[in-house]
Amino acid sequence: MKQIIFDTDIGIDDAMALLFLHFANEVEILSIISGYGNASIERTTVNALYMNKLFNINAPIFSGASNPLGENTPEFPDFVHGINGLGDIDIPEDVGQPESLGGAQAIVDAIRQNPGKITIVSVGRLTNVALALNLCPELPALVKEIIIMGGAFGFNGHYGNVSPVAEANIAGDPKAADLVFTSGMPITVVGLDVTLEVTMEETYFDALRAEAGLAGEFIYRISQCYLDFHERVHGHRSCPVHDPSAVAYLLQPQIFGTIDASVRVVTEGDAAGQTICGNPTGHSEIDTPTLSKTSKICTSVDADALLHLYHRTLASSVN
Ligand code: BDR
Ligand code: CA
Repeated sequence: MKQIIFDTDIGIDDAMALLFLHFANEVEILSIISGYGNASIERTTVNALYMNKLFNINAPIFSGASNPLGENTPEFPDFVHGINGLGDIDIPEDVGQPESLGGAQAIVDAIRQNPGKITIVSVGRLTNVALALNLCPELPALVKEIIIMGGAFGFNGHYGNVSPVAEANIAGDPKAADLVFTSGMPITVVGLDVTLEVTMEETYFDALRAEAGLAGEFIYRISQCYLDFHERVHGHRSCPVHDPSAVAYLLQPQIFGTIDASVRVVTEGDAAGQTICGNPTGHSEIDTPTLSKTSKICTSVDADALLHLYHRTLASSVN
């Protein structure tokens, strides 16, 4: 069993990723940590509680950060994910309460209790993980791996989606991201380099609706708002596959090509949120100790294999 902590700012593609995890036989979701991002922390926590109940996920929900580590105040992309983060479908108010422990402490406690066993799948801002590192500096040696949806390195021509050089999850808290990338944690980055290479067409959502029961109907309903946004921007009713791609890496890493390199994040100025990767140059005056801490960066993906895996896993929910 792959034991995971899901760190998420539940919006539309996060919800798709959560159902991917839930219906994958080999995954045990130990906890869900909410974070601000696609919507406010209050909203994303309600979304997690709602989905937990609707799909009998039975994971404890911990509420995480409401703001980035930096001084910037979060802005919520309601034009992408809807005001409630889930495409503005009706969500009941009586969804219960999160656990009383904070999200960062919950990450630390779980990993301390199961050293070397737990993978964090992080598909939102990296604030919760950075706060966990502050609470427990030895976390990098205790976590099995962290799979991050975030960043863009220019592979396949992809550099950014919220600025010419920055991806949303990293741009939302660049200081937290740089702290995580220089921590020495075993990291795999699933960035725009690959997530923009995988596309779900409108017909893909129709097929999920027809063949994946309640989960398919749910994904179909929440994704209409997401498809509207992408149609406005690109003139075509289809969308990229961001957060579910991080789950696909957890389940089938062989469908991705990767390189090993050190990652740093630009934390200030017009390029804030830019992710830069490189390897030691051999010039001791230039190379810094952080360059010895390498991440695995996804540079290519078998898009058809990923789309089949997602469909197959979701369709298995009705058997
Ligand atoms: C990322 O930003 C969020 O809007 C999505 O949920 C995804 O995690 C893509 O840049
Ligand atoms: Ca997300």
